[in-house]
Amino acid sequence: MATDDAATQIAASEDEMATRVLPAVGPGPETAAPLPEPDTPGPRQPVVSGGGLSLLEARGVSAWFGSHRVLEGVSLVMGAGEVTALIGPSGCGKSTFLRVLNRMHELVPSASLAGEVLLDGGDVYGRGWRLQDVRRDIGMVFQKPNPFPAMSIYDNVVSGLRLTGRRVSRDVKDEIVVRSLVSAGLWGEVRDRLRQPGGGLSGGQQQRLCIARALAVRPRVLLMDEPCSALDPTSTRVIEETMGQLRREVTIVIVTHNMQQAARVSQRCAFFLASQGMPGQIVEYGDTDAMFSEPQDERTFDYVNGRFG
Ligand SMILES: Nc1ncnc2c1ncn2[C@@H]1O[C@H](COP(=O)(O)OP(=O)(O)O)[C@@H](O)[C@H]1O
Ligand SMILES: [Mg+2]
Repeated sequence: MATDDAATQIAASEDEMATRVLPAVGPGPETAAPLPEPDTPGPRQPVVSGGGLSLLEARGVSAWFGSHRVLEGVSLVMGAGEVTALIGPSGCGKSTFLRVLNRMHELVPSASLAGEVLLDGGDVYGRGWRLQDVRRDIGMVFQKPNPFPAMSIYDNVVSGLRLTGRRVSRDVKDEIVVRSLVSAGLWGEVRDRLRQPGGGLSGGQQQRLCIARALAVRPRVLLMDEPCSALDPTSTRVIEETMGQLRREVTIVIVTHNMQQAARVSQRCAFFLASQGMPGQIVEYGDTDAMFSEPQDERTFDYVNGRFG
């Protein structure tokens, strides 16, 4: 989808910008000592804050591109430690909603919005928040895996740390790399080739590398926009299993077109719909199992049973 590609490029160019503008965070990893095993106790320095489980809440969110309103009055609580799935036909505003949540929507010149987004009660559009803090606390993974292909696996994982603006020692970086790759379910497959380029991994591995990169800065929320739609079934299953573990450390919001996936990975589900040129809205929200087994709205019933979309 063009929109997702654009978003991917935005993310990539942001990272590139960070690489150009911000100071380097220490010597490269080429001469690093062997990395610690995941279970090896080591220094647990709080490199970046905010690793606890967080609640994200949208209140009355509307969004426009120019005069075209694509979302209207969307309110949604994305629970701490839960996976919330956003489902609905193409074009109903799911990706736009995700980008409103971490302030990427405003990167589009014609874009505007109304409403509030609260992370643990604090309005991310409020004065107290710097843009880079919002994007660090609310990470994002896109449809198409977008690692830096020529950059090593190790450097890919730590590339986002530059956004935190802090200097990080080699030892701490090593720990972050191990922790992030373990959490992303990739450590066992790459532990012996951390210096090799990220572009050499399979598509599914690249997507988990992107998840590891997002986790390296210890986000409070992870947004995933159709993270498996470019992947084969085996890679998809691995990522779904990874999400089951991950939700214990980070609140997850996932957009998916795959109803089975929504049922497998999420505890809560929101059904978005934009009917006949109207802006997207949430038709139904609730416990995922209940939404699939006994939806309250006829349109939800038709959608989850594959009658449209
Ligand atoms: N950058 C953009 N500029 C203008 N319109 C856009 C842009 N991105 C998305 N849209 C429009 O916003 C609406 C919602 O799109 P999107 O959020 O991508 O929906 P979904 O993710 O549910 O498929 C669509 O009508 C789409 O054409
Ligand atoms: Mg989309």
